[in-house]
Amino acid sequence: MYNTGIMAVECYAPERAVTNDDLAKLVDTSDEWIYSRTGIKSRHVSTGENTSQMCIKVAERLLEKTGVKPEELDLIIVATITPDFATPSTACLVQGAIGADNAAAFDVSAACSGFIYSLSIADKFIKAGEYKKALVIGAETLSKYVDWQDRTTCVLFGDGAGGAIVEARERGGIIADVLHAKGSDGMKLTGCEKKVRNFLSSPEPDRHYFIMDGKAIFNFATKVIPQSINIITQKSGVSLDDVKYIVPHQANYRIIEFAARKLKLPIEKFYINIDRYGNTSAASIAIALGEMSNEGLLQRGDKVILTGFGAGLTWGSMLIEW
Ligand code: UT7
Repeated sequence: MYNTGIMAVECYAPERAVTNDDLAKLVDTSDEWIYSRTGIKSRHVSTGENTSQMCIKVAERLLEKTGVKPEELDLIIVATITPDFATPSTACLVQGAIGADNAAAFDVSAACSGFIYSLSIADKFIKAGEYKKALVIGAETLSKYVDWQDRTTCVLFGDGAGGAIVEARERGGIIADVLHAKGSDGMKLTGCEKKVRNFLSSPEPDRHYFIMDGKAIFNFATKVIPQSINIITQKSGVSLDDVKYIVPHQANYRIIEFAARKLKLPIEKFYINIDRYGNTSAASIAIALGEMSNEGLLQRGDKVILTGFGAGLTWGSMLIEW
């Protein structure tokens, strides 16, 4: 049976950066409030690029970096809650654009845990033996669901994409993962509701924008991150001392700080870039990995834990030997 190794990671974000001061011109907020409560300084916001276009940029960068030919890809998975369309899937749009004619393609909706869910799915396809190379992308244009009049949510989110090409390998790569969900708490964070519209019903307005119980999500996140990471260390037998980096979903600096304290780990072990991106949901861990790789932080043999949590509610962690 094969393992699933990471060949390369890459990332992309739209050029336009929106600072906290920019947002203070739209709603009653301040740089002081946003930075002290979340760790966010600015976020990238699309001025026209949709999710598939950002995915295609990431895919092209990955193909160039690895030398993999599009037709060598067996599988494309895009983790997103902000697809261009309900159908075709974002993954099919990417498959068509890059000419990956031999690849199966589908989207995964698991919000901020989406990249880990998707890597886990790709791992199972590869371990089953028939699939050798997969392109896995996490990408979001969350600005599509942001109510720019709602200060409780508009300061949090950003747009961007990141991804990996993974391949069948003899050893290393994805060593252990764990995925969780708690649908009974799903209504604590909703976005882009689509009500039934037919000839019998008069259309009611959809709750298009994000609606969130921030405190509930905060408490949930600080509880499940340490639990989930502890499951991974138990499953793999790898001690946290031997893990070089923990790459968490970037939702709030204070959530990461809490988790670090509970795990008795120095905050420096966590890669954090929320100050420049805000919360990019399924893209956040992939963007972080892309940046880390381009900064030379990830060397062959390094052990890295990814941990994600968010809407659904979903959460999960994964240990990778680079
Ligand atoms: O990807 C996963 C999805 N989401 C999350 O992980 C979010 C998790 N939750 C959080 O990060 C935090 O709960 C928030 C950053 C969303 C909020 O921080 P908080 O410390 O929980 O603040 P709060 O909601 O308790 O609000 C405190 C005060 C309130 O005013 P009052 O009622 O005390 O007068 C809010 O109305 O801050 C007010 N407030 C703001 N003030 C200035 C809320 N948003 C803002 C704002 N600027 N942007």
